[in-house]
Amino acid sequence: MVQKIFQTNAELKDWLSEQNSAIIFIPTMGGLHPGHQYLIEKAKARKTKPNQIILVSIFINPLQFGKNEDFKKYPRNISKDAELAFNAGADAIWTPDYFEVFPGGENSHFKIQVPQTLNNQLCGAERPGHFDGVATVIIRLVKIIRPEKLILGEKDWQQLIIIRRLFQELSIPIKIESYSTQRDQSGFAYSSRNSYLSDSERLNAQSLPSAIKVAKTEFEKEKIINLKKIASILKENHLQIEYLKVVDPFSLKETENINGLCLLAAAVKCGSTRLIDHTFLMQRKPIIAIDGPAGAGKSTVTKAFAKRLGFIYLDTGAMYRAVTWLIISNSINPSDQAQIKNILKDSKLEFQSSNFVDQKILINNIDVTEKIRSPEVTSRVSEIAKQQFVRELLTKQQQVIGEGGGLVAEGRDIGTAVFPDADVKIFLTATPKERAKRRSIDLEKRGYEYSSIEDLEKEIEERDKQDSEREIAPLKKAHDAVELCTDGMNIEKVLEELTYIFRSKIPEEVWATPNL
Ligand code: CDP
Repeated sequence: MVQKIFQTNAELKDWLSEQNSAIIFIPTMGGLHPGHQYLIEKAKARKTKPNQIILVSIFINPLQFGKNEDFKKYPRNISKDAELAFNAGADAIWTPDYFEVFPGGENSHFKIQVPQTLNNQLCGAERPGHFDGVATVIIRLVKIIRPEKLILGEKDWQQLIIIRRLFQELSIPIKIESYSTQRDQSGFAYSSRNSYLSDSERLNAQSLPSAIKVAKTEFEKEKIINLKKIASILKENHLQIEYLKVVDPFSLKETENINGLCLLAAAVKCGSTRLIDHTFLMQRKPIIAIDGPAGAGKSTVTKAFAKRLGFIYLDTGAMYRAVTWLIISNSINPSDQAQIKNILKDSKLEFQSSNFVDQKILINNIDVTEKIRSPEVTSRVSEIAKQQFVRELLTKQQQVIGEGGGLVAEGRDIGTAVFPDADVKIFLTATPKERAKRRSIDLEKRGYEYSSIEDLEKEIEERDKQDSEREIAPLKKAHDAVELCTDGMNIEKVLEELTYIFRSKIPEEVWATPNL
């Protein structure tokens, strides 16, 4: 493809309509550096369809600069930027002027006002109107471009969070992907504004990433964050602190709860140059909870997703099924709680897996992997699973397995009861019809007979009812779970959606694997 630079919307639109393409859009203000280069390279590496085009825009948005900020001196060098963008894999560059973006001038277009809860935090508190300007222009740009995907850097974390929320609230069906902050060898984050720093300022500025790095190491060792210590390092190096905080990465509010993912963020003035930097703090690897009703396809995708992440796969349903099998095979009455307690208290339940494909489940050293899928176990499991002793026992075991994180667990109550602090919660559903169809295929594969799809649908609905209406840890969507209805989606598509949800909760800076 010939690499193109467009100045006007008309030229760009003509060309785009000729290409009949899906656009991956990387909006920038120019002054391109290795951070932008990385975004473009990532976009290129992740192209999934031949008709995808990577479009980089260069537009210095006047709306996001405050009165005394650096709009006039912001770096402008289109030919250098174009060279970097094309070398990194951009297919086209769009460099609109002000009136291409705001044809009637900014006062004749709608402006976006960022909610105060997000705007009054971090940079928003220091730069009135900045994020309103960012949000307003991004809406103008995507309206013109109509991209399939938007790529943003994690460096401007607050901006990323605001744009995600904006698209969510306006139901804009554009996927947002974000990629990690790029740093030079000394750990200094690339930024267009770094070019303002004199040599001596650059030396002082180095203390920002260095102090943050020291704090992160200390956190990992001792589980403490000493903001005072960071502040004194910054001050010693003549940096004026605008903010230095530990916040919840999504609400951006200050937090003292350092058990989950949190963000240590700082903004400083070095001479007249404003610099921001951050790091994510996390005490353990991520936990992903995938809940949902019977037959929604959880097992297949959870297993594949765990494999993709290199995480432990935990099938909690298999544990309830194994317990049910033990109870049935010992001819214990499912409502006889005393006997159930008696047999379970000395039982040993374990998973054995040489790989993700054939994980085995053993109860009292008996391999019950296949046996627990029998229609008999299936029809009795919900009755057993509602009992308090059974739930407490298995929940505890599941929590022990997930202690260190790095786990994808599937079940009914993972996000609500087993791991209420899970970093990513997904509620996977499908219509009963679709689920019955999937179950019939599964049963056929395993060599079990069934009377009809209609009966399977009834059985599934009955089990859902029992699971949802039970007293302890019923099946329900956690308030902070993302619901995904998988009707009509193949496994690859579901995995793509799971990856997308995962990435919107776990930045690349926190967890990166080549498969994601
Ligand atoms: O049949 P399907 O594969 O969808 O279900 P499963 O994941 O094998 O779970 C079988 C049954 O175990 C469910 O219907 C629930 O009654 C119970 N279960 C539970 O109560 N809590 C969990 N976390 C997982 C499963």
